[in-house]
Amino acid sequence: MNLIKKMLTAQAVVLAFWAVSAQAATTDDEIAQRIKPVGQVCVQGEECKGVAAVAAPVAGGGARSADDVIAAHCGACHASGVLGAPKIGDTAAWKTRADAKGGVDGLLKSAIAGINAMPPKGTCATCSDDELKGAIEKMSGL
Ligand code: HEC
Repeated sequence: MNLIKKMLTAQAVVLAFWAVSAQAATTDDEIAQRIKPVGQVCVQGEECKGVAAVAAPVAGGGARSADDVIAAHCGACHASGVLGAPKIGDTAAWKTRADAKGGVDGLLKSAIAGINAMPPKGTCATCSDDELKGAIEKMSGL
């Protein structure tokens, strides 16, 4: 009986030590980390930490494919030629424009800046130049 009591006491002491040291190891930073809000509101035009990671989705986190960019942004106008937008696959129409602008790079420039009814970057504000160029090449076949 006495032995069992001793053993139980020893265990209780170990448990108490563990609990105290676990508490002591918790810093304010760790607590702040645990209770931080799960989301964050971002206002357009202001820098917003962590959004790039969220905004760059797709597998692997790399550049979006031309198809993804077109489907999400360009197709809205370029699929049917809204407001005179050159249609996807109408290579002749794209070529006329490319020739006038000095090639695909010239088209890229006007796509980045926006041109007449087309908004800057074709509404894909988070698109890189390469992603836009990929979309232009895909839509134009050039
Ligand atoms: C809101 C509709 C709209 C969206 C969305 C849009 N475009 Fe356009 N785009 C236009 C219109 C309209 C034109 C023709 C503008 C003109 O010449 O008057 C155009 C023209 C272009 C041109 C030719 C520019 C030139 O110099 O002739 C390129 C390149 C282009 N778009 C790329 C894109 C890409 C890439 C996307 C998607 C990231 C996109 N557009 C999304 C409407 C749109």
